[in-house]
Amino acid sequence: MLVLGIETSCDETGVALYRLRPREGAASGTQRSGLLGQALYSQGQMHAEYGGVVPELASRDHIRRVLPLTRQVLETSGCTLTELEGIAFTEGPGLAGALLVGASVASALAYVLDVPAVGIHHLEGHLLSPLLAEDAPEFPFIALLVSGGHTQLMRVEGMGRYQLLGETVDDAAGEAFDKTAQILGLGYPGGPAVSRLAEGGRSGALKLPRPMLNSADLNFSFSGLKTAVLAAARRQGHGLRDLQIRADLARAFQDAIVDVLTAKALSALEATGLERLVVAGGVGANRQLRERLSDSAAAKGYRVYYPEPALCTDNGAMIAFAGALRLAHREPASRAFSVRPRWELDELIPV
Ligand code: KG4
Ligand code: ZN
Repeated sequence: MLVLGIETSCDETGVALYRLRPREGAASGTQRSGLLGQALYSQGQMHAEYGGVVPELASRDHIRRVLPLTRQVLETSGCTLTELEGIAFTEGPGLAGALLVGASVASALAYVLDVPAVGIHHLEGHLLSPLLAEDAPEFPFIALLVSGGHTQLMRVEGMGRYQLLGETVDDAAGEAFDKTAQILGLGYPGGPAVSRLAEGGRSGALKLPRPMLNSADLNFSFSGLKTAVLAAARRQGHGLRDLQIRADLARAFQDAIVDVLTAKALSALEATGLERLVVAGGVGANRQLRERLSDSAAAKGYRVYYPEPALCTDNGAMIAFAGALRLAHREPASRAFSVRPRWELDELIPV
């Protein structure tokens, strides 16, 4: 099953080609399988001057990029359009106009090639992306999904079988990184920039709260932390011109958010009795979060699985992969297509 995946839910145009490995025992021939190729165009710079994603600009740019990227992926992986056996696209959640670009291109290609198209839930793509690694986790596992729009802890029993254990009651973790970056004058997207700046920060030089760290549930709250960063920045006044002070503030913010994410993820493992933790979503690329999670989990006999950093942020590979799995299970396909800017994970069909 050779599937083209198209991701256009926000500000990255991602295209990838995935071939599902034949089942054990089936003749595999000489065909390569797994991720055959992928291409990504990030609009980050275009949106940077506005401090966040401008939806209309995002849609227009996806239109410009999606076909050249598709050609590029086919060329670099040595495949042709006519070999495709299915097309997967991100159906939601995301920006309506941006989603429509991927959905209409995917559906048109599927129509012309007479192959099925399948709409994929963006978060399912993120959740399953650690399965693309050589050393993939087995079901069931706990997933910590930390992106620009979501912060959730989920129990994953299998594909499409997700139980929400806890989530943010206000801002997402990535949003907190992006807002902190704005306060520190670092531009958009903020996560990687805050992380780099924090490397030079001194631990404990500034103190910030750890919201809901000791709440009895598995929920998060980050809007108070963002406000605390703003208040600390104001207190510093001109002091903020000093690189060391800015680095200390970035470090204090990152230490606080990493503390909370780590504590809650471990609580979820404890509460469910599961031993595997999967981290997905853009904030999962954060080096300090990865180190802390791995150390704390190992100390308790748990194991943490990460997608490689490039597959943490939005990409076409996770959509092609989820699409191949769903199509292999004969997800009902129709020629009509839709986008779902809002779409809850628990509405998905288990396979
Ligand atoms: O998953 P993603 O690419 O898009 C969404 O579905 O939201 O996540 C984007 C978010 C942004 O908020 C970005 O600042 C954050 O992930 N991010 C990071 C890092 N890389 C990306 N946050 C912290 N550290 C990073 N290294
Ligand atoms: Zn995402």
